[in-house]
Amino acid sequence: MFETLFTPNPSVEAKVSIRPRKGVIIGAGQVGMACAYSMIIQNCFDELVLQDIQTERLQGEVMDLIHGTPFIGSVNIKAGTVTDAGQDADLVIITAGASQKPGESRLDLVERNVVIFKSLIADVIKYCPNATLLVVSNPVDIMTYVTLKLSGFPAARVIGSGTVLDSARFRTLLAEKMGIDARSVHAYIIGEHGDSEVPVWSKVNVAGMPLYNEQRSPSLDNANLNEIFEHVKNAAYEIIKLKGCTSYAIGLATTEIVKTILHGQERILTVSNLVNGFYGIHDVCLSLPSVVNEKGVIKTVNLTLNDTEQQQLIHSAQVLRDIFDKLTL
Ligand code: LAC
Repeated sequence: MFETLFTPNPSVEAKVSIRPRKGVIIGAGQVGMACAYSMIIQNCFDELVLQDIQTERLQGEVMDLIHGTPFIGSVNIKAGTVTDAGQDADLVIITAGASQKPGESRLDLVERNVVIFKSLIADVIKYCPNATLLVVSNPVDIMTYVTLKLSGFPAARVIGSGTVLDSARFRTLLAEKMGIDARSVHAYIIGEHGDSEVPVWSKVNVAGMPLYNEQRSPSLDNANLNEIFEHVKNAAYEIIKLKGCTSYAIGLATTEIVKTILHGQERILTVSNLVNGFYGIHDVCLSLPSVVNEKGVIKTVNLTLNDTEQQQLIHSAQVLRDIFDKLTL
């Protein structure tokens, strides 16, 4: 078609030396689509394959995205699976699974999502053996661990979105109170992405100035700070009650992780990854500030925690470990 419009260059070789950046998003629900939209407008991939069991709705979503591509530059968006168009992807982002209903905790989803992951991961291993896996489905720390065990991939490239979003919520709410830009607030939420997550108050700072004074009683002087953390921890419950799901912010958080991986940025992100040895925590996936690049999670910050934070983190790890011990893979 259109042969008369172009003159092919006869010297073009069949083999291309620059590989297109290919991503697959498994699960094209609200979260998967928010990820897809955010990733295409931020030019993450040359090829983006969306996979979902609801194939008709998927076709609609893909058509809808494709029609916007003249406004954003070149990205080849397809409906497919890791077994066809998605083969040999650089990154596989998993958002598939049952979603939280109002009142349900992220941990309530475990059993249902393990069943779904068993069939998904088998194809990923076979058709995308070199991919970095980015798990977003909840409960994300458990699903990251399940993905690690099912895939047998090196832990460095089995990453969960973890508390990247919680840390962003934390910075946003603190910044609002202070009347400054959230990017100038340095604050981390670590541990489980969920009810046992831990605010690292001892390290919260603005321009190197700590917000938290260890000498004072946190329950008195920091009363409204604790309120901020409660909002962070309960944000997803509140949003689910109001709009049925969370989507945009997790889409943006996931895109940030994807950009860090694809561009080898070596940014520090609180992603979920296998922890072995930190404060005596072993063999569990949870979030700690970690350096991420194209190889995955390459190192973790040896964060010094105060006694309360240590206890909270160890408790968070135990909550996750207890759930994992009950699962059969
Ligand atoms: C949230 C979901 C992604 O926290 O767990 O919004």
